[in-house]
Amino acid sequence: MPLVHGTPEKVNTDIKKVLVSEGQILARVKELGNQISKDYAGKNPVLIGILKGSVFFLSDLMRAISIDCCVDFMSLASYSGDKSNGIVRLLLDLRESIEGRDVLIVEDIVDTGLTLSYLENILKTRNPRSLEVCSLLDKPDCRKISVQAKYVGFSIPNEFVVGYGLDLNEKYRNLPYIGVLKK
Ligand code: IMP
Repeated sequence: MPLVHGTPEKVNTDIKKVLVSEGQILARVKELGNQISKDYAGKNPVLIGILKGSVFFLSDLMRAISIDCCVDFMSLASYSGDKSNGIVRLLLDLRESIEGRDVLIVEDIVDTGLTLSYLENILKTRNPRSLEVCSLLDKPDCRKISVQAKYVGFSIPNEFVVGYGLDLNEKYRNLPYIGVLKK
């Protein structure tokens, strides 16, 4: 699949198909950045990156946002290999208070929704002024709990994907596109 700037993508041999190309990701991230800049004009939102999957998305998204904004990180775990065990654990908490702040959670993907629901429940108790979610990917068919991201990059079918931060046992995060693995 061609990139926005014209060079062909070299596809990793473990990948069955490229679902979202590098060019499509970068174009969509720019649109999301513009939308967020408009919606939060005059505010100074804090973007909370959820480690590790959101790091590439977060760093591209922040650079596509033209207003002042801050960043902080949290880390949660619920996945082992390509299966969620359904039990979410908090591994790393925020450094700064979010009381009275406009908070935007930045996620790589919403799948069952369990991670996001757990996260929203924790963060709501800390009295932010507003709390919204921006997720690069959404798998709406996989929900076990009802959650909705305000900003979504791409809705995708129920397939396990890797690349652009998403991994399988820590592998494939550095692929510049989102792809489906061969069996
Ligand atoms: P959820 O709690 O099931 O919504 O899953 C949230 C987390 O599981 C995401 O932040 C990812 O880290 C991981 N995850 C879910 N689906 C995928 C996938 O297709 N590929 C890689 N990681 C995934």
